Amino acid sequence: MPASSPELPRFPADFVWGASTAAYQIEGAADEDGKGPSIWDTFTHRAGTVRDGHTGDVACDHYHRFDEDVALMRRLGLDAYRFSVSWPRILPSGAGKVEPRGLDFYERLVDALLDAGIEPTPTLFHWDLPQALEDEGGWLNRETAYRFGEYAAVVADRLGDRVTRWITLNEPFVHMSFGYGFGVHAPGRALLLDALPVAHHQLLGHGLATAALRAAVPDAQVLVANNCTPVRLRQDARGEADTAAADAYDILHNRLFNDPLLHGRYPDLSAYGMPDPAWGGVVRDGDLTSIGAPLDGLGINYYNPSWITAPRDPAAGLPFDLAEPAEPYLRTSFDWPVVPDGLTELLTGLKARYGADLPPVWITENGCSQPEGSHDPARIDYLAGHLGAVADAMAQGVDVRGYFTWSLLDNFEWAEGYHQRFGLVEVDFATGARTPRASFDWYRDLIAAQRP
Ligand code: BGC
Repeated sequence: MPASSPELPRFPADFVWGASTAAYQIEGAADEDGKGPSIWDTFTHRAGTVRDGHTGDVACDHYHRFDEDVALMRRLGLDAYRFSVSWPRILPSGAGKVEPRGLDFYERLVDALLDAGIEPTPTLFHWDLPQALEDEGGWLNRETAYRFGEYAAVVADRLGDRVTRWITLNEPFVHMSFGYGFGVHAPGRALLLDALPVAHHQLLGHGLATAALRAAVPDAQVLVANNCTPVRLRQDARGEADTAAADAYDILHNRLFNDPLLHGRYPDLSAYGMPDPAWGGVVRDGDLTSIGAPLDGLGINYYNPSWITAPRDPAAGLPFDLAEPAEPYLRTSFDWPVVPDGLTELLTGLKARYGADLPPVWITENGCSQPEGSHDPARIDYLAGHLGAVADAMAQGVDVRGYFTWSLLDNFEWAEGYHQRFGLVEVDFATGARTPRASFDWYRDLIAAQRP
C-alpha cells in the first residue's frame, strides 16, 4: 500500500485508536522523587550490556515533559494512551513503604490525559522490576507474584476512580526468555530452560493483580499484553522434525502464556523435558484458577512471524532453531521482516484455537523501527499494511476493539539503546526536542477520517 494513499476500510465507530510507551523507555528521572532502582537501572550501568553503553537515566525525559507529550497525543486525536507504571517509583524497595511522589506523578499524567479526552491505559509491569525484589530472586521467586498483587492494589487505590482499563503484564514471554533465559535483557540471567518458573510466577502475579484490581475498581477492565507470533516453517524445511520443532516453539512462545490465561491449563511441556503438569512443584493448587480468571480483553503485541526449523544441534538443549524466512521480505531498521498478513494469521489462529474462550482482542503494540529523520514513508506503509491485516481478521470474525501503535516517541530500545527508532515523533536525545514525523500526520488524518 503506497504511503500516499492509506486507503483503509472503515473500522467500527467505537474502535479505540491509541499509542503505547513504557516507563523505563521514556521517563528518565531514574532516581528522582524517591524512586528506587529497577533491574534496568542496574543492568544498563553494567559494562557491555547495552549498545554503546546507553542507559534510560534521561531517555525522553517524559517525567518532566509529560505535558508536552500529552499535547502531542491530543494533536493526534488519540482515544487512548497505553503507558506503564514504574513499580520502583511506587514501592522503591518493591514492597512495604509507598512513595507518594511516585503516585503523584501518575495521577498528574492521568489527569492530563483525561483533560485531553484520552483514556489512560496503564500497564503495571513493563519489565522494570524493583532491584530489591531481584535481590530476592526476582520472578524465579514465587513471592514476587504476591508483591505484584500488593503493588497492583496500591496503584488501583490511587488511580482506580479515574482508570478503568488496566493491563497487568507486558510480554511475559519476552521478559522470561530475554531477561532470564538468554540474559540479553535485565536482569541478565542466562538460565535457558531453568527460566521457566519465571513464566508461571509472572502469570500468578497477573492473577493476583487481577483480583486486586477488581476488588478496588468495580468496573475494571483487565487485560494482559502478550507478545504473540505466528509460527511458520521455511519453504525448504517441511519434514516431520521441522513440524515438531514448530509445534514446540508455538508452545513456548504463545501457548505457555495464552493457554493458562484462556483455558486454565498449561500446554504439555514434554518437549522441554517437563512432562510433570505441576512443573516439579512450581505450579501449586489453585494457581491456575487464579491465572485463568476470565479476562476482559487479550492484548496482542505483534511485530513479525517466527520461522522455525528442527534443531541443527539437538545437544544444544532447545527443541527448535530460529531461522530466517526464504522470502525476500522488506525489512525494518531492526532487520525484522515486514509481514502484515502474519497479523491476520495470528488473530484468526487465536480465534480458531480458543473459540468462545477468546475475549475481545486489543492490539496493544505494533510498529517498526525506521531510520532517523522525520520523513518515514516506510513506517506509514507498515502501519497501513498492519491495520489492513487487522481489518481482514475482523472481517473473518475476530473481535478486535482497538489498536495501539508502538510507539508514540522514539525511546530507549532496551539492548539497542537509542539506536532503534519506533516513534511517530522523533526525539533528539541531546536536547529532548520532539519533532512529529510524516507518520504522525498520517495517523492523525487516519483517526480523523475514521471518526463517525
Ligand atoms: C516491547 C517494547 C519494545 C518493542 C520493540 C516489545 O517487545 O514491549 O518495549 O520496545 O517490542 O522492540
